[in-house]
Amino acid sequence: MAPWLQLLSLLGLLLGDAAAAPAPVWEPPTSELLKPGRFALRMYNRGRAAENRATLGAIRGRVRRAGRGSLYSLEATLEEPPCNDPTVCQLPLSKKTLLCSFEVLDELGKHMLLRRDCGPVDTKVAGSGIAQGCWDSGGQASFRLSLDSLPFHPHLDNTNETLNWVLPLMNKDLLPKNFSEKMASIFKNFVTTYNRTYETKEETKWRMSVFANNMMRAQKIQALDQGTAQYGVTKFSDLTEEEFRTIYLNPLLREDPGKKMRLAKIPKDPPPPDWDWRTKGAVTKVKDQGMCGSCWAFSVTGNVEGQWFLNQGTLLSLSEQELLDCDKVDKACMGGVPSTAYSAIMTLGGLETEEDYSYQGHMQACSFSTEKAKVYINDSVELSRSEHKLAAWLAKNGPISVAINAFGMQFYRHGIAHPLRPLCSPWLIDHAVLLVGYGNRSDVPFWAIKNSWGSDWGEEGYYYLHRGSGACGVNTMASSAVID
Ligand SMILES: *[C@@H]1O[C@H](CO)[C@@H](O)[C@H](O)[C@H]1NC(C)=O
Ligand SMILES: *[C@@H]1O[C@H](CO)[C@@H](O)[C@H](O)[C@H]1NC(C)=O
Ligand SMILES: *[C@@H]1O[C@H](CO)[C@@H](O)[C@H](O)[C@H]1NC(C)=O
Ligand SMILES: *[C@@H]1O[C@H](CO)[C@@H](O)[C@H](O)[C@H]1NC(C)=O
Ligand SMILES: *[C@@H]1O[C@H](CO)[C@@H](O)[C@H](O)[C@H]1NC(C)=O
Repeated sequence: MAPWLQLLSLLGLLLGDAAAAPAPVWEPPTSELLKPGRFALRMYNRGRAAENRATLGAIRGRVRRAGRGSLYSLEATLEEPPCNDPTVCQLPLSKKTLLCSFEVLDELGKHMLLRRDCGPVDTKVAGSGIAQGCWDSGGQASFRLSLDSLPFHPHLDNTNETLNWVLPLMNKDLLPKNFSEKMASIFKNFVTTYNRTYETKEETKWRMSVFANNMMRAQKIQALDQGTAQYGVTKFSDLTEEEFRTIYLNPLLREDPGKKMRLAKIPKDPPPPDWDWRTKGAVTKVKDQGMCGSCWAFSVTGNVEGQWFLNQGTLLSLSEQELLDCDKVDKACMGGVPSTAYSAIMTLGGLETEEDYSYQGHMQACSFSTEKAKVYINDSVELSRSEHKLAAWLAKNGPISVAINAFGMQFYRHGIAHPLRPLCSPWLIDHAVLLVGYGNRSDVPFWAIKNSWGSDWGEEGYYYLHRGSGACGVNTMASSAVID
């Protein structure tokens, strides 16, 4: 039997396949929940120093069993330790007890965390004001109104705070009867399309369950999008949300406003109705950051490439690897901030080309040489928060480095993304990209955004985001290098 068919029972277990006999659900004694609960806690605390770890409070949950596996759906309270570091205690939360939902798959004693979704017990977050509680920004899943908190697992849904208009789309009873078969065939397609190979049968199995979960997540994102975007299978569809964030996103942007820059002068003329630097030769081809959180470097080189083209008339593809290796303030694959990257370019004495200093996707010893630098910058500027002014600046001066909340991008395929604001908060910036143009598509205003996840993602490597509503914080961290 083909391996993906062997996984049907697992899929049925995860997704509640309507065709399969439903796996019995019951509430085991708390003692049985402790093991999966502690496992979930360990995953939650991963990467934290001992004194910063959350502890487990109350726990309850249910279990479904099929074959050799048990799927635990847990609700637990976690207590965050007091926070003494003002740089991470900035969010205005009044309580530090979290209510978490976890789904833990236990297969013969081997645990996997399929879902993690935490939020403060007191979900009222003050609009502004003094931070009363504190927060560890490492608990990134926590603050956002998580998609996963929307109803899909009916057995977990014991509140009436359901979004009723979403439910019909999500209700598993409305899924096709052969849902698992369909999912298996989509997964097979995915594996072929993206040439995926997995080391072991266990990994294949695990990836398939992640994939199936992700298809449900993509469907929810789709249902909640206010734009024209389509979400679904992408090359990232077999990664958990947590893996995706850790590997591809840029946590530094979230905490660190970076270096203060002077404000750019905004052109007085109103912006033209649309603009696209790609058609004017100011944009190099889409690059691929690989499994490295180096988006900040790509955002900055993209901007400098445009500035150099507009000031000096040649389009050169510039080196991100130089920034990974030689910019000691930013943290290579662990993230960085455009403002400090501009400073690094000035301090180093310029950027080499992609050809001379090619991308490796991991940090190496710095091998920059001044003789090989082909491009210099003299300064950097911060741009306006008004999207109208950003458009005016862009049309006159070139592509802009911006930082955004990458919500939904894991599953983005094409169209104009416009997530609900609470799902794509401007305060949770975790990705850096390049605005290269703007316009309207059938009256929906958009930004054309160059991403660095290869041309086999999105619209040939590009992302289209709603313009004019501060969507996903696109206007909160716009900047550019200056060449005199
Ligand atoms: C929740 O909603 C259901 C159906 O609309 C209703 O019958 C029930 O009384 C509600 N429960 C609470 C606690 O509001
Ligand atoms: C699922 O069922 C529908 C109709 O019931 C059928 O058209 C479709 O081919 C089936 N899909 C698979 C993958 O078997
Ligand atoms: C698929 O992946 C294998 C191993 O990773 C590689 O050798 C092969 O060239 C890839 N094929 C395509 C079409 O990308
Ligand atoms: C900009 O920097 C370059 C290289 O460091 C330098 O040669 C040039 O004079 C600077 N321009 C201005 C206006 O300072
Ligand atoms: C773009 O669409 C917006 C919203 O529908 C509209 O207000 C604006 O005038 C349009 N702009 C152009 C240039 O068509």
